[in-house]
Amino acid sequence: MQIKSIAEYEETYRLSVEQPEQFWAGIADNFLWKKKWDNVLSWNFSEPKIKWFEGAKLNITENCLDRHLEKNGDKPAIIWESNDREKPSVTLTYRILHEQVCRFANVLKKNGVKKGDRICIYMPMVPELAVAVLACARIGAVHSVIFGGFSAKSIADRINDSACKLVITADGSFRGAKQIQLKEVIDDALIACPTVEKVIVLTHTRTPVSMLKGRDLWFEDEIKLVDTHCPAEEMDAEDMLFILYTSGSTGKPKGVVHTVGGYMVYAGYTFSNAFNYQPDEVFFCTADIGWITGHSYIVYGPLSQGATTLMFEGVPTYPTPSRLWEVVDKHKVNILYTAPTAIRSLMSFGKEPVEGADLSSLRVLGSVGEPINEEAWHWFDQEVGHGNCPIVDTWWQTETGGLMISPIAFVTPLKPACATLPLPGVQPVLVDENGAVIEGNGVSGNLCIKFPWPGMLRTTYGDHERCKQTYFSTYPDLYFTGDGCMRDEDGYYKITGRVDDVINVSGHRIGTAEVENAINMHAGVVESAVVGFPHEVKGQGIYAFVIYPNLHTEAELSKKDILQTVTRVIGAIAKPDKILFVPGLPKTRSGKIMRRILRKIAEGDYTNLGDTSTLQDPAVVDEIIEKAKNQ
Ligand code: PRX
Repeated sequence: MQIKSIAEYEETYRLSVEQPEQFWAGIADNFLWKKKWDNVLSWNFSEPKIKWFEGAKLNITENCLDRHLEKNGDKPAIIWESNDREKPSVTLTYRILHEQVCRFANVLKKNGVKKGDRICIYMPMVPELAVAVLACARIGAVHSVIFGGFSAKSIADRINDSACKLVITADGSFRGAKQIQLKEVIDDALIACPTVEKVIVLTHTRTPVSMLKGRDLWFEDEIKLVDTHCPAEEMDAEDMLFILYTSGSTGKPKGVVHTVGGYMVYAGYTFSNAFNYQPDEVFFCTADIGWITGHSYIVYGPLSQGATTLMFEGVPTYPTPSRLWEVVDKHKVNILYTAPTAIRSLMSFGKEPVEGADLSSLRVLGSVGEPINEEAWHWFDQEVGHGNCPIVDTWWQTETGGLMISPIAFVTPLKPACATLPLPGVQPVLVDENGAVIEGNGVSGNLCIKFPWPGMLRTTYGDHERCKQTYFSTYPDLYFTGDGCMRDEDGYYKITGRVDDVINVSGHRIGTAEVENAINMHAGVVESAVVGFPHEVKGQGIYAFVIYPNLHTEAELSKKDILQTVTRVIGAIAKPDKILFVPGLPKTRSGKIMRRILRKIAEGDYTNLGDTSTLQDPAVVDEIIEKAKNQ
């Protein structure tokens, strides 16, 4: 499946556009199917209705596990590195991983889980998390993994949205110097979740937890009661594989739905190509499995290709700023895939931590999650890759399932901080505000995709209309990404950032409306408006303008209270970096907040505010500026 030259890329790309069905059928032939498809693709973007490999039967875990056993049973599938530097790492070969997945799949079955049931997973970055994910897939249950940084309320909303039947969690998790009491958070969440019948709890941090009789079970006890034989459920290519919640510009998070066949083909194909993975190499993606990057490039992509995937429980700078480099050195990592925010944070410690480690095993570097700035790109290139490792700046989204616009390592000529060219099968277009397609090069616009690809979302769980409204209605017959983009003179794509009300904080998507709703729940707050602002390490920070007329206590205390409210309602990841108490917000006569003005003020740019004459009360802008200056 691997493309070897730019000429081959161009030829492959041409085929993928002219004969997409033939192209994708050829790629899908590299996977294991119990029965091949009757039809490669049927689609329309108006309903939307997208079906890939209709009629085909498969199980993704047979592709990720069983098919590697004969030749590569003893090859490491997962290498796990603990948060604690002193703890030994753990290696699961394909054979062991297969056994553990089958065993845990039997635990799920024993506890009444059936094909199609939704399972919530809220776990630390430990091998059992990958085992839990794959065990669901083994029996056709739909996993919904929730990142460990979300609050009880966020978890409850997600569990209820998809009516999860069972929760898999742990006593707690370690993240650097911090511990999170996962079970306690789950206990709080489940007060409001009537559909959950069982909770399976892994022992990890050994913090005391309370176990509810009849509901809570220990992972360690359960796996002793079952055997390792578990036939893989026969799944339809279009059966649901997982739900992953993500934030948008309005309302509560949406459950993005991916299906078995197309997602598998797409994650596997993009992994193998963009990173140029070679047999016996160690691939290290630093994301958490709670995000799409972890789903596609820690679990499904690498394992479907028989790769060795490294799972790191900790954070790059704990206990010292050289930790990430130590991990690369220790495990002789060949491909390192990380986020600009991590690079910037590591960069801030200077060269010393990185120079102390032997990074000569590295062959390919990757970046994901947010636009990478040129300074960080060059640092990554020079200090980490020593000028020898191509950097693949991969643009994609939870909804796309896998990489969309990205260099192919050793194939695509690179430009610093540029996602370069679409991968085969991806047909990007730029449109103006009215939806008119912008042709030619040296142009900017809103990024859309005009043709389906196998890894794309099929719906948003329980609310297909929302999927249609969010992604397929802004511009008819196009999938709208929510991103702005430049196409340069050479036809290269450079993503400029979100054009909707989504903030990208350290590569994590946060909806401004969600944060505003959380802030507004705090007693005394009348109204708030949240915007992003440039942040040196996080890429974007969260700036909240809050109307809070009766400041009885000290402003700093009130800010603390507000932060606590946001932590309780959404989770620590959505805490504003700055809160400014203001007397009013700039609104149009129809009552719409003019965020454009607030964004400028948040940036510290008080002069280029554009036309403010249409505001209800233009004087409020001066008052806000005054407050911002004195903060
Ligand atoms: O704005 C883009 C940004 O991250 C958004 C998708 O976020 P999420 O669904 O959480 O998935 C993140 C990991 C795939 C996009 O709409 N984004 C992602 N990758 C890049 C990027 N922006 C610029 N360059 C990238 N390489």
